[in-house]
Amino acid sequence: MSDIFPVNGMDAVVFAVGNAKQAAHYYSSAFGMRLVAYRGPENGSREEVAYVLTSGSARFEFRGAVRPGTGVARHVAEHGDGVIDLAIEVPDVEAAYHGAVSRGATGLVEPHTVEDDHGKVVLAAIATYGETRHTLVDRSNYSGPYLPGYAAAEPIVPAPEVKNGRVFQAVDHCVGNVELGKMDEWVDFYGRIMGFTNMAEFIGDDIATEYSALMSKVVADGSRKVKFPLNEPAISKKKSQIDEYLEFYGGPGVQHIALATNDILAAVDYMREAGVKFLDTPDSYYDDPELRARIGQVRAPIEELKKRKILVDRDEDGYLLQIFTKPVQDRPTVFFELIERHGSLGFGKGNFKALFEAIEREQDLRGNL
Ligand SMILES: [Fe+2]
Repeated sequence: MSDIFPVNGMDAVVFAVGNAKQAAHYYSSAFGMRLVAYRGPENGSREEVAYVLTSGSARFEFRGAVRPGTGVARHVAEHGDGVIDLAIEVPDVEAAYHGAVSRGATGLVEPHTVEDDHGKVVLAAIATYGETRHTLVDRSNYSGPYLPGYAAAEPIVPAPEVKNGRVFQAVDHCVGNVELGKMDEWVDFYGRIMGFTNMAEFIGDDIATEYSALMSKVVADGSRKVKFPLNEPAISKKKSQIDEYLEFYGGPGVQHIALATNDILAAVDYMREAGVKFLDTPDSYYDDPELRARIGQVRAPIEELKKRKILVDRDEDGYLLQIFTKPVQDRPTVFFELIERHGSLGFGKGNFKALFEAIEREQDLRGNL
């Protein structure tokens, strides 16, 4: 079957934030990212500033409002800091956009070309869950630092002292939270609009009853370069972590961004030293003989993982190491995951119980359980 929506990969994760200048500093100093481009009143952007940071192939853009009444200001007032755009790089924006709209997607921005001395970029945008969008980007004829209208910028802090100067190398997956009963609608959306297919991992009843309940399915493009897990709340004894998100974000939106790292131990050490708070995992997780038997041999001694609270999961393809931050803004909404894959294509299903218990402890502290 021919691919109805070819993609090259994630292009950028775009955040609307209350203070982009300070966000740029936080992601530089705490996540080891490098400022590469800037747009603001100094170069013709009268209402918004934007800071573009990279780490390997991962690119984040932080947008902030310079004056009241702008789109970014309204978004932040309503949702707090959050993700407004999961931009996808595609080989043909015209075809991707018109194909998507003909299959039922809501078009937000028609295909158009922007250019400067560095070349041309083709852009368009379609809507997804909540107020989130997918900008479609073809930058194959562009050599500038980000997009026309953005000036090159110098790093804010020196490169982190880790191997190759990067704490993480890529965006692994981007997770959306949607309302009760809507998960399958959005799984169907990505199937119908983009030809994305379900990945095997599915979280259902086994998670739904005892712990901070959710249902989860993962859709991905054929090359597995773009992976979008989708969560919805499930009925349980306690208030779902997804319900907490939906209440405090004010609707559906991006829950977490997973960052692929080739050295999760060094990444955690760096980020923790810089003040990033991670979810706690009880020592009993590591002392459980069942876990030790299940995970077998991994590349680091389990004592080193235990020291850093890094979780392990194994499936038929291999294993993965992962850890989750606490929410990174005032509202209990968006957080990050670090993931180091060794063959496994999964998302850490074996860790959901330990993970959800940790999340529940945090929810309880916030009075939201
Ligand atoms: Fe994840």
